[in-house]
Amino acid sequence: MSYGYFDDDAREYVITTPHTPYPWINYLGTEEFFGLISHTGGGYTFCRDALMRRLTRWRYNNVPTDAGGRCYYINDGGDIWSPTWSPVGADLDHFEARHGMSYSSITGERNGIRCEVTFVVPLGATAEIHRVRLTNTTDSARSLQLFSLAEFCLWNAADDSTNYQRNLSLGEVEVEGSAIYHKTEYRERRNHYAVYGVNVPIQGYDTDRESFFGLRSNWAAPDAVVEGKSRDSIASGWAPVGSHQLDIDLAPGEQRDLVFVLGYVENAEDDKWEAPGVINKRKAEALLSRFSTSASVDAALSELKEYWSGLLEATAVSSGDPRLDRMINIWNPYQCMVTFNMSRSASYFESGLGRGMGFRDSAQDLLGFVHLIPERARERILDVAATQLPDGSAYHQYQPLTKRGNESVGGGFNDDPLWLIEGTAAYVRETGDLTILEEIVPFDNDPENAAPLLEHLARSFQHVLANLGPHGLPLIGRADWNDCLNLNAFSTEPGESFQTMETQDGRTAESIFIAGLFVHAGEQYADILEALGMSHGATTARERIVEMTHAVLEHGWDGSWFLRAYDHFGDKVGSAQNDEGQIFIEPQGMCVMAGIGAETSHANQALDSVNARLNSDHGILLLQPAFTRFRVELGEITTYPPGYKENGSVFCHTNPWVMIAATRQGRAEEAYEYWKKIAPAFREEIADRHRTEPYVYAQMIAGRDAPSYGEAKNSWLTGTAAWNWVAITQYIIGVRPELDGLRVEPCLAAEIADLSYVRHCRGAEYRVNIANGPGDGSPKLTVDGLAHEGTLVAYAEPGAVVVVDVVV
Ligand code: BGC
Repeated sequence: MSYGYFDDDAREYVITTPHTPYPWINYLGTEEFFGLISHTGGGYTFCRDALMRRLTRWRYNNVPTDAGGRCYYINDGGDIWSPTWSPVGADLDHFEARHGMSYSSITGERNGIRCEVTFVVPLGATAEIHRVRLTNTTDSARSLQLFSLAEFCLWNAADDSTNYQRNLSLGEVEVEGSAIYHKTEYRERRNHYAVYGVNVPIQGYDTDRESFFGLRSNWAAPDAVVEGKSRDSIASGWAPVGSHQLDIDLAPGEQRDLVFVLGYVENAEDDKWEAPGVINKRKAEALLSRFSTSASVDAALSELKEYWSGLLEATAVSSGDPRLDRMINIWNPYQCMVTFNMSRSASYFESGLGRGMGFRDSAQDLLGFVHLIPERARERILDVAATQLPDGSAYHQYQPLTKRGNESVGGGFNDDPLWLIEGTAAYVRETGDLTILEEIVPFDNDPENAAPLLEHLARSFQHVLANLGPHGLPLIGRADWNDCLNLNAFSTEPGESFQTMETQDGRTAESIFIAGLFVHAGEQYADILEALGMSHGATTARERIVEMTHAVLEHGWDGSWFLRAYDHFGDKVGSAQNDEGQIFIEPQGMCVMAGIGAETSHANQALDSVNARLNSDHGILLLQPAFTRFRVELGEITTYPPGYKENGSVFCHTNPWVMIAATRQGRAEEAYEYWKKIAPAFREEIADRHRTEPYVYAQMIAGRDAPSYGEAKNSWLTGTAAWNWVAITQYIIGVRPELDGLRVEPCLAAEIADLSYVRHCRGAEYRVNIANGPGDGSPKLTVDGLAHEGTLVAYAEPGAVVVVDVVV
């Protein structure tokens, strides 16, 4: 069944029914202030940090799952409905939700009243604007009421959901004119409050939830709405909300716009109050007046659209297949930006309560982001590096508000440090900015112990070498990329965290994945040293890389594929000798991508094994056969029923590694086939099975062993976005920035006959036209009309336009 369609010209996905297989969401905001919004207006809002600065409440494990959020109610002579369908759920004569680049617009129509609500966080504003456009499409005059509702969160979202004995006695608000102020805890240590206002006089308001709803009503039928009368309640403790009542007359054909602003304001400590107990509202008033007209909303929207055009036009593909084009030109980079902003903190699957910014996650997200806003990527690299510990290891996570390493999770994930090299190298290749390596960055946020970024990379590299196991392979620590392969945990108590507990000394279990990553990242580190003129360092690093490569080929090869690990007892993991979990995807992708076994038959054999044993209709499975029982020596991976998550789902993040590996080995058809299986725009046709949004990648798709084979989960925040971007644009289309030029080396499947690709890099524009004819597979280049030796195109001056014609 179809639930919508792509409107590529508008860069929107248009959802035509409220009844999608799951809430299909979008993100509002680009820098500081964010909202998650579903196609029926659900979701919540926060400033900077989803845990610590939550403006509106989200109720976890809710039924229905997407209840609450941004609520608008229309009472049309007793007929009650919501323009966004939810929360009332009354049938609509027309429904349409458009998710665009950082804005959404939802329209509902019933009995001749059309109501379009546009949701946007304007650039440079810490506020969400909701423009409600009411149209009377009939030829008779109509009178109706509009009620708004936002439920405030008491700022710390975790505490808000649990600490009732305190929180139910805390809530405080003020109301002035049409603006409702939420000021809980402002009297004490907070310097911020929220405001929810509308640009016209109101006929009533509520700020106390129970007064608005009644104790026994529900989202669909609040007492105030049903009775058509706000209570003018002032919250004192309990649950503060913001609700406005507007009585509206509409002449035949008349259209009226109302502008609601939900904003966040901070005041300096000595400027908090206007009078004792009365908050200083100056900034809030300025915010409300900035967005007091419909024209100001249009201006904010066009500014936002221009901003996105500027970002997205840096790369553009035209391939003849709209599904490929829309992924590359619109949705993949958009998802990369959202993932960069959120890391893994806030989605409909990530609660915004726990994980802040992951070290490895944030470092990998950079790969899909460096070309979009290099300055912000630079800042992120320095933030992430500042949470590295002096011995080269790293905190696994940090909180965005404090930017400090998260003590409760700690470190010990031995792959983490290497991703810093990957992220930094991607940035340097994209920008040519070697000065970042000279930036002085603290270890563990301690200004007393700081060193140039280059030294951080050196310690990342050395940390692996300082932690080798019995086979000369890297010790895994608590886990490597696969957080759930916990070879030193041996957890037996329910509730223990597999990631933070360690019962073994950790000196035996080794990871072939980290070995592959060491080679992959190490090469990039050596290239950087070379570019800095430190050729001795580069040579030494390369010697270590060669040693590691030998160790992998000698001890990390199982006969037809790469082993996954050695466990605490020194036994093989991911071997044909095992009864389950015989082959894992991660080392196949990473080792081949790193070039291990390229000169022998190992690389192709590993890819053959992936194809034979892990390939499925819905993508490449993480492992096979899936584990059917809990194994204490392997940890969390064996806690999932077969086919889910790390236990044999299509864990999409890993698939692009295999695609890149395949292109390295010239296996163009395979690479493209793998991508199409997981690419959301290609899965739109099977939306009922896939269930999550057809415009963004999901972290996992249930594997062959699961009853719900093909069902996606954990959409939006996943390293899949960045890695697929790299795989498609840099390895399949094959245009990738290197330190001394743009590499143009397409590896296209035969079904793509011609493809043109515009790539901006370092201020110049490259227009790459690829004719994908039958041939020996090696590309022949012409640059600005002249035959060109090899596939590396030297960087042109900023402003230049370079035309590259490629015949494959
Ligand atoms: C985490 C990643 C991890 C992956 C595989 C994700 O949930 O964010 O850091 O690599 O799971 O375990």
